[in-house]
Amino acid sequence: MRAAVVGGAGFIGSHLVDRLLADGAAVDVVDDLSTGSLANLNDARAAGGELKFHHLDAGGDLLDAVVRMRRPDVLYHLAVVPTVPSPVGYTADVVGRTVAVLEACAAHGVAKVVTALPAAAVYGTPSGKELPLKERPFEPRSVDGVVAMAVHGLLEVYRARHDLEFTCLVAPTVYGPRQRPDAGVVAAFVAAHRAGAVPSGDERRTVDLVHVDDAVDAFVRSAQRGGGLVVNVGTGVQTSLHELWQMVAGADAAPLGPPSHADDPPRMALSSARARIHLQWSAWTEPAAGIRELVG
Ligand SMILES: NC(=O)c1ccc[n+]([C@@H]2O[C@H](COP(=O)([O-])OP(=O)(O)OC[C@H]3O[C@@H](n4cnc5c(N)ncnc54)[C@H](O)[C@@H]3O)[C@@H](O)[C@H]2O)c1
Repeated sequence: MRAAVVGGAGFIGSHLVDRLLADGAAVDVVDDLSTGSLANLNDARAAGGELKFHHLDAGGDLLDAVVRMRRPDVLYHLAVVPTVPSPVGYTADVVGRTVAVLEACAAHGVAKVVTALPAAAVYGTPSGKELPLKERPFEPRSVDGVVAMAVHGLLEVYRARHDLEFTCLVAPTVYGPRQRPDAGVVAAFVAAHRAGAVPSGDERRTVDLVHVDDAVDAFVRSAQRGGGLVVNVGTGVQTSLHELWQMVAGADAAPLGPPSHADDPPRMALSSARARIHLQWSAWTEPAAGIRELVG
């Protein structure tokens, strides 16, 4: 089995690389290191499997050469992240990069593309009674939601016109080692706790916490399963930011500071029913245990 991971030096990507190598796959990482880092691949390098790192922009011409030469069976597209600060640049950046990825895969016989989109961007503002939320038509709440929807649209087009299979995972709040503090609420809370500070956030807002090892397991299963589907990768359990902060800082933690922005949906939990059926996947890490291990 040969896999390419676009964005493989990032948070989720690097854990996926570790897992693929442990499973005996040959792995090509394509990353421009815009938000990822080579340090994230230290464990992968130490593991001693077949790993190649290609330092390049996946939206450029060189990606085609990598896919042509390396001929992966599956390509994981994990660079659906805003790396350009303006919505104008961001839209062109992610959509263009996704087209480049799909063109290369279609041209060189890649069997499957797997990607992951953020639930908060694509599922609107679910009411409490809709939770845990099943897969439903996307309702973008922002420019990045529209961009995520375009990524899914492109996957559908390349499947219909070029026979390129895909699975589009939708993930809520993924957490674990190597996440940058500015990239997720768990990493932000842990960093604040270590610095002796109190983070801000709406104590009543709920998130669905998926440990990165569990999320990565869904990615690996998607190489062979879930063709043509959007599949939620969630636990179905809501954890309030109040509870999360107590898991990080203890039961007598000071209250969170006032939220600086109210961009996120007030509550989130994703049903894993489809993932159970099509990927034979469900999360196994209890948030309290995962957070305890992270805090150390
Ligand atoms: N972290 C989460 O909670 C979460 C939840 C849902 C979905 N996702 C999705 O999962 C994917 C990975 O997220 P993450 O948290 O690991 O992000 P990340 O920022 O840690 O990883 C993204 C990686 O892509 C690389 N990259 C960006 N632009 C590139 C380009 N033009 N060419 C090559 N490489 C490029 C970055 O350097 C980085 O290594 C993203 O697509 C994100 O939307 C993440």
